[in-house]
Amino acid sequence: MHLFKIVAAVAALASGTEAAVRQLPKPASCSGVANFRYQYKLESGWSAMKIAGGLKQVRTIVWDTEGNMLVSQNTRGISVHTFGDNGCINSTTMLISGNQINHGLSITPDGKTLYASSETTLWSWAYDPLTRKISNQKTIVRGMSTGIHSSRTVAVVPQQPNLVLLQVGSNSNFDMASQQPGTGRAIIKIFDASKAPSNGFNYNTEGEVSRTLPELKMGSAAIFTSITRPRSSITVSHVVTYRTHPCSLTNMVAVGDPLTVRNAWYGYPTCFSVWNPANFPNSNLKTGSHFVVSPNSSYNDATCNGRAVPPRLTFQAHSAPIANTFDSDAKNMYVTFHGSWNRQPATGFKVVQIPFTKLANGTYEPVAPADSMTGYKDIFSAPNPGSCTANGLTMSNCFRLTAAAWDPAGRGLFVGSDNSAEGEIYVLTPN
Ligand SMILES: *[C@@H]1O[C@H](CO)[C@@H](O)[C@H](O)[C@H]1NC(C)=O
Ligand SMILES: *[C@@H]1O[C@H](CO)[C@@H](O)[C@H](O)[C@H]1NC(C)=O
Ligand SMILES: *[C@@H]1O[C@H](CO)[C@@H](O)[C@H](O)[C@H]1NC(C)=O
Repeated sequence: MHLFKIVAAVAALASGTEAAVRQLPKPASCSGVANFRYQYKLESGWSAMKIAGGLKQVRTIVWDTEGNMLVSQNTRGISVHTFGDNGCINSTTMLISGNQINHGLSITPDGKTLYASSETTLWSWAYDPLTRKISNQKTIVRGMSTGIHSSRTVAVVPQQPNLVLLQVGSNSNFDMASQQPGTGRAIIKIFDASKAPSNGFNYNTEGEVSRTLPELKMGSAAIFTSITRPRSSITVSHVVTYRTHPCSLTNMVAVGDPLTVRNAWYGYPTCFSVWNPANFPNSNLKTGSHFVVSPNSSYNDATCNGRAVPPRLTFQAHSAPIANTFDSDAKNMYVTFHGSWNRQPATGFKVVQIPFTKLANGTYEPVAPADSMTGYKDIFSAPNPGSCTANGLTMSNCFRLTAAAWDPAGRGLFVGSDNSAEGEIYVLTPN
């Protein structure tokens, strides 16, 4: 018993929960699961199957230490799914029912504490992965602003699981007031859950500022994720999307250690980054360079490039990246692009793969240089993203991709869709 616990703990330290989990085959199909609701295009070398349908809007997927899948479903709650030996879902129960749960979900590496959020509040529960039961609900953070960006990404810092990162977006495309951290918007804060007062921390006035974000397109959220990798320090990456100059909206990846990065400023709402330099003739701006929408004598592009942390990689404007995950050896990051609503032609509606590399000092970074427009490629997408409609945040004639979670049981990349017609989960497997 003791020996098992120690082995499990070491395995968990070495590679998240992966080593401890029973490996499963990727099923060709699962009985009772209807066909893909929408058509898709797949990069060669990959296969796709649908493993779950008939869900409410799927937003976040996490795994417990037994390899069970926990899914946050917007306005429904959190479900837990076990798998049979055939790799298909074998049981589904609601862990937490409640229409306040809307997006964020995270679990500690030991599998024993669960965090989930509503628009205003972050709660924790004690969780038992063997019985799949929760107990001891606590309010950890309260008072998050309400506004047009309602989802809050939640991420436990695996290296120090009492620390929880929690994000609130802007309340408009140009939320000038959010320059003041006290507004608690366009920001990621870090809270020590073990010290939460009984009624929870006040988001706006307590906790530490991990970073202030370039924020956000309608309906999307700043996304950051924590990874633990063998023999490495922990890296937190976040993927954010920001609005700028009409022809130059961009999104970015930034990389940093949540234990050390504090008060980093990524430019919002003053400095934005260039996607296509061809839109900036007569300048020496490159992809990823910062610029000011309306420069003046005291604030110009150079002011930004001296003050704001530059993006490590930028994405096509309006992609609306919403979740990211790494494969088991951290060779690639996968990002879901929820898709645009006010761009013609539309863009997004896909999963992209970003090759990563491990530097000599143990940090993981994208392979592509910061000024690359080709640092990622599509692996799964709507056949013609330009014709995808977005009549509302979750309505479309295409899937609206959300959750991304690499399977500890070896089946590949699990991807969710929050299209209100049907919440679906797909499995994408590299051959
Ligand atoms: C599903 O679970 C039941 C009950 O635990 C078990 O008898 C059955 O073999 C499982 N199915 C598969 C495909 O593993
Ligand atoms: C110059 O631009 C900055 C950044 O947008 C702004 O804060 C400042 O008020 C502007 N100054 C003047 C004189 O317009
Ligand atoms: C690791 O090395 C890279 C490249 O030299 C550097 O940019 C980065 O700041 C270093 N990170 C740490 C945590 O030392």
